[in-house]
Amino acid sequence: MILAPSILSADFSRLGQQIEALEEGGANWVHVDVMDGHFVPNLSFGPWIIPFIKKHTSLPVDVHLMVTNPDELIPAFVEGGANQITVHVETCPHLPRTLQNIRTAGCKAGVALNPATPLHVLEWVWDHVDLVLLLATNPGFSGQKYLPQTTAKIAGLDNMIHAAGSQAILQVDGGVNANTLVEISAAGATSVVTGNAVFKHPGGISAGIYLLREICQSGPG
Ligand code: DX5
Ligand code: ZN
Repeated sequence: MILAPSILSADFSRLGQQIEALEEGGANWVHVDVMDGHFVPNLSFGPWIIPFIKKHTSLPVDVHLMVTNPDELIPAFVEGGANQITVHVETCPHLPRTLQNIRTAGCKAGVALNPATPLHVLEWVWDHVDLVLLLATNPGFSGQKYLPQTTAKIAGLDNMIHAAGSQAILQVDGGVNANTLVEISAAGATSVVTGNAVFKHPGGISAGIYLLREICQSGPG
């Protein structure tokens, strides 16, 4: 299971230390939730944060663009050093071209689906994706409750990935914690994004990561 903690939940008064603690604690990626206050009702950070993150970790930086016009922002995130860029299908009228542009720039290409977006939107993009992200909460904020219908959607996507012969990573994002991770993992997720479950764990970041790891290792998935 690829653990990708989201820095949206971090303590920004000591962001550098918190990013270092992710790597020390055994996280695999750093997830960066980019929000433009238009596609989602929150405003977060721009491309400038990527070089800052890379100063504090060697982990891959996994950028989630929750923005109305991702095509215009992709070059700046590539320039900043992003390793993977995930765009929302709801914001890409020419999805294959956008995904190809991400790959041509040297990044892994991901596509994200909002909770109500059906899986069939993926039918013609399997050749262009390295990752599919399923939003399990209404995008825009961390600390929200997992939408239970997501579990069936994860299983459906897992079947689609296998039927398409794709190697795409199945990432679940939103409301992932010790209570939801067993069913998410059993349904077929191969990566999870975790905000509050890691950054707000009472025992600290490493304890939060350790608990999620334990669950993945002992759970059915
Ligand atoms: C929500 C973001 C998620 C969120 C995860 O729109 O895409 O990545 O930060 O935070 P938790 O795990 O606390 O729901
Ligand atoms: Zn995210």
